[in-house]
Amino acid sequence: MINYVKKIQKLKDKFDGKVVISAHHYQHPEIVKLADFVGDSYKLAVDCSRVNAEYIVFCGVRFMAEGAAILAKENQKILLPKMSAGCPLADFIDGEIMENVLMSIEQNFQISAIPVVYMNSYTDAKNVCGKFGGAVCTSSNAQKILEYYFAKGQSVFFAPDFNLGINTARKMNLKEGDIIKVNKDLTFSKNGKTPKLFIWDGNCRVHKRFIQSDVEQFKAKYPNGKLIVHPECDEAIVNLADISGSTSKIFSEIEKSKNGSVWAVGTEYFFVKRITDQFPQKTIVPLRQSICANMAKINLQNLYETLKSIDENIENLIVVNEKQNARKSLQKMIEIVEG
Ligand code: 13P
Ligand code: SF4
Repeated sequence: MINYVKKIQKLKDKFDGKVVISAHHYQHPEIVKLADFVGDSYKLAVDCSRVNAEYIVFCGVRFMAEGAAILAKENQKILLPKMSAGCPLADFIDGEIMENVLMSIEQNFQISAIPVVYMNSYTDAKNVCGKFGGAVCTSSNAQKILEYYFAKGQSVFFAPDFNLGINTARKMNLKEGDIIKVNKDLTFSKNGKTPKLFIWDGNCRVHKRFIQSDVEQFKAKYPNGKLIVHPECDEAIVNLADISGSTSKIFSEIEKSKNGSVWAVGTEYFFVKRITDQFPQKTIVPLRQSICANMAKINLQNLYETLKSIDENIENLIVVNEKQNARKSLQKMIEIVEG
């Protein structure tokens, strides 16, 4: 059997800092071990934007690699080991739809809503976001970004994840009449008020799979166990949870919990399995086995082949042609979060 770990390590040593590997929390444990950066999508975007290596091999899905390419310095190249690693949630919106929604909001409510797009979107959506003065957000900072625009008295169009939008709105105590769900037919149910938050009707099928009976089963088995979930889960699940947050938040909450603690985790299964193996002194169970097939497309073999191509004939290069406004929207997020 080919020992890819050894081969990758050897190539990394040869490259001597010219290449770094960035890995999202959902990646295979052996890839995580080989990575220079590991984290949630916000941390990875910031880490990649600060590194000087000539090549960043991004082990994650395409919108994450595009994010790194948008923020990259001129001499940097971003590679994604499997180009078909997409994200069905990101496919729910594109730049053209965003422009149409913004125009429709203007016609129906006589306001210019500011677009806030979730990191889980492609460059064209981020370009529209930046063009209209908006910011990207991730699951770790959605509330901060919304607060920033609400404090200026602006209404926001949030896309594409409905659950992250509504779960964040609930945390902020937004009232029912302040929120409007927007879908493709662009018909709005008006209530005489100016809505604060318009939320696009997209979702992540990996996180939609968690249902209330999963929580009931866990609670029946572990009455004192805690539930921690990602905010891409349905509102009903987030409401039943003790904590909700980004993948980094999930990791750090479990890491700092006492030995003997019991957790059910509502997010991607392979990530939960990695945490379970890493903390054997704690009982950590998946709320349900829900796998992100796209994240799982990255493996040791395609990571090795991509690294090997760097000194031969570069493969899997991420190219983003028009990125000026997308860059603005990502920089705006970093500026708001880092203060
Ligand atoms: P995080 O930013 O929390 O890592 O989430 C990314 C993601 O795609 C979750 O499904
Ligand atoms: Fe996209 Fe969902 Fe996979 Fe995250 S878990 S990358 S949102 S499909």
